[in-house]
Amino acid sequence: MKVPLLDLKAQYETIREEILPALQAVLDSQHFILGPEVAGLEEKVAAYCQCSYGIGVSSGSDALLISLMAEDIGPGDEVITTPYTFFATAGAIFRTGARPVFVDIQADTYNMDPDLVEEKVTSRTRAIIPVHLYGQCADMDPILEIARKRALAVIEDAAQAIGAEYASGILSSSKICRAGSMGDYGCFSFFPSKNLGGFGDGGMVVTNDPDRAERLKILRVHGSKPKYCHSFVGGNFRLDAIQAAVLSVKLGHLDTWTAKRRENAAWYDEAFKSSGLVDEGLITPPKSVLKEACSEHRADYQSETAGSIAHDHIYNQYVISTPRRDELKAYLLDKGIGTEIYYPVPLHLQECFADLGYSSGSFPVSEEAAGRTLALPIYPELTPKQQGYVVDSVCEFFVK
Ligand SMILES: Cc1ncc(COP(=O)(O)O)c(C=O)c1O
Repeated sequence: MKVPLLDLKAQYETIREEILPALQAVLDSQHFILGPEVAGLEEKVAAYCQCSYGIGVSSGSDALLISLMAEDIGPGDEVITTPYTFFATAGAIFRTGARPVFVDIQADTYNMDPDLVEEKVTSRTRAIIPVHLYGQCADMDPILEIARKRALAVIEDAAQAIGAEYASGILSSSKICRAGSMGDYGCFSFFPSKNLGGFGDGGMVVTNDPDRAERLKILRVHGSKPKYCHSFVGGNFRLDAIQAAVLSVKLGHLDTWTAKRRENAAWYDEAFKSSGLVDEGLITPPKSVLKEACSEHRADYQSETAGSIAHDHIYNQYVISTPRRDELKAYLLDKGIGTEIYYPVPLHLQECFADLGYSSGSFPVSEEAAGRTLALPIYPELTPKQQGYVVDSVCEFFVK
């Protein structure tokens, strides 16, 4: 049996009949860049993320870059983030000329440890970028509190986390907040492997601030407003209509797909637990914080929303931790099962950041995670038979 890490062909089979006319309509319109298709998607994604404004951009990387640019962050500035993330998070900071300042992660969620943030704030700090890694929100309340106290911008890297939820005790608008709605900017990626993925690159910034939304829109078109007049320098960060048409169709299926990912995750959790591997310390399944820690907020929210159930994690990845990671990965590959290591080298140890002055041991929790984590197939179209085969193969590896 073959079980890929992700099967986009299986997903496409289920939506082909909706996608083809949507693409045909864009081809017939011959309107390829921005325009009504993009504006329609912006409105829908912003609403989905509990935000007033959405600004479609060329990628998740550019969503981060344009948000930093909108804050006028550049040389001499510092931006705090985590070293355990995709490269783009710190790459965007570096590209503005600012300095990425890393803080270590929590061992159980792999997200930024809020207790370590404040000691890194200096007079040069301008912003914090928490990353909602694998599809689970970082612990935002303490991060937002530090940001308010020190007048820092908060740019959520929600590239992997569309629809993830966080039970906030300090944001009054809504106790259960969607990823991207809590900071000043929420940055999303529509890379094909994301839960909402296009047929190419794409991204979006969401915000509740009309001034920031306006600035982002101008920056997206080289800082031009009115046309051919530039009071500041932006770039070409535009989203195209073909991606917007695809994403609009897919957005209609996102909740169903997320529910399936959650079902698959719960099934893995239970299977690994009952196999004894969890008790023996051989497999640590991903931790889901909202379920465990925020029952009070959850109960309030559920009564407010007539019984619908709030979840936090959207499982863009289902990542286990195991002391025998590399051997397990090789074993599963041999069995036809795709897995991936996100991420094998934390950012503070990347060659291009050597001048930042970090070294091995600077962020021990991130370094330990980099040596132990492994993503298993979790995509919505995974069949029970395939999932059973993954679990059996993992168990087989540990008993052989
Ligand atoms: C956490 C994180 N940030 C940023 C990005 C960048 O997004 P994109 O690939 O759309 O540029 C990604 C994409 O993988 C990501 O996972």
